[in-house]
Amino acid sequence: MKNNNNKNVIIRTENLLKRFEENLVLNDVSMSIEKGKTTVIIGPSGCGKTVFIKHLIVLLRPTSGKVYYKNKRVDELDEDELSSIRTNFGFLFQSGALFDSLTVTENVLFPIRQHIMHIEKKQADELVASKLSMVGLDGFQDYYPAKLSGGQKKRVALARAIALNPEVILYDEPTTGLDPIRSDIINELIIKLQKELGITSIVVTHDMTSAYKISDQIIMFHKGKIFAEGDADTIRNHPNQTVQQFINGRVDSEDLKALKGGKTTLFNDFTNSYR
Ligand SMILES: Nc1ncnc2c1ncn2[C@@H]1O[C@H](COP(=O)(O)OP(=O)(O)OP(=O)(O)O)[C@@H](O)[C@H]1O
Ligand SMILES: [Mg+2]
Repeated sequence: MKNNNNKNVIIRTENLLKRFEENLVLNDVSMSIEKGKTTVIIGPSGCGKTVFIKHLIVLLRPTSGKVYYKNKRVDELDEDELSSIRTNFGFLFQSGALFDSLTVTENVLFPIRQHIMHIEKKQADELVASKLSMVGLDGFQDYYPAKLSGGQKKRVALARAIALNPEVILYDEPTTGLDPIRSDIINELIIKLQKELGITSIVVTHDMTSAYKISDQIIMFHKGKIFAEGDADTIRNHPNQTVQQFINGRVDSEDLKALKGGKTTLFNDFTNSYR
């Protein structure tokens, strides 16, 4: 996976380092992402997962290090050049809600309107119908987001993410807030997009059921670095205690003692790793 000459590598970061003032968030992250595969990124809250994927489309610029898309260095491009690179990406952001004042149709067409000056109505209708049927929501064209459930909103956001036929989709916690059945619908959609369209997916999640199900590889971040990586079985059976604690959602025994003792000391956990 670290072979930089691999022609199947579609995205690559080299010694990526990101600092926000005193806060060192990413510390020398070198990662290669293979075309057509699903890479899942896990790690404690605040460890830099969202910051990392924002670098891949240069919504954030590195303090140092490099980002490549198809062997082209992208982190130094200007906004015009980036805008064209970004048409290859779909994203489903953590906070990326739908536009409440727009119908499902207009939400799905939004990236097209952003990047293309004009699209004929017939062509637009066909495109929206095909994207909505991909996510099982054809017929919801005229709904406003307020009438949709949380799971349906995520699926519309996914239809919007695939509007421009992206090669890569970035998902930031796509199943958060959904019940297990609706989460699994999202999992199945991610798998379907990979199988049917050969899409490369990068998925940030806290949902280990989803991570195991959809991933070709799982990468765990900790203290700004890649801490563990491998396929689902490798991570599930990882010998490192910190990995096991994280994937099984267990509190460190020292922290537990502090909790039971009612101490108010800061936890020895992941969240204050950089402070
Ligand atoms: N624009 C910003 N300016 C300053 N600090 C930032 C900015 N964006 C993120 N950070 C800091 O970077 C760190 C990592 O944030 P990030 O959002 O990547 O965490 P995360 O791993 O996605 O967490 P979560 O699982 O809770 O979503 C945090 O300490 C956060 O405060
Ligand atoms: Mg995040």
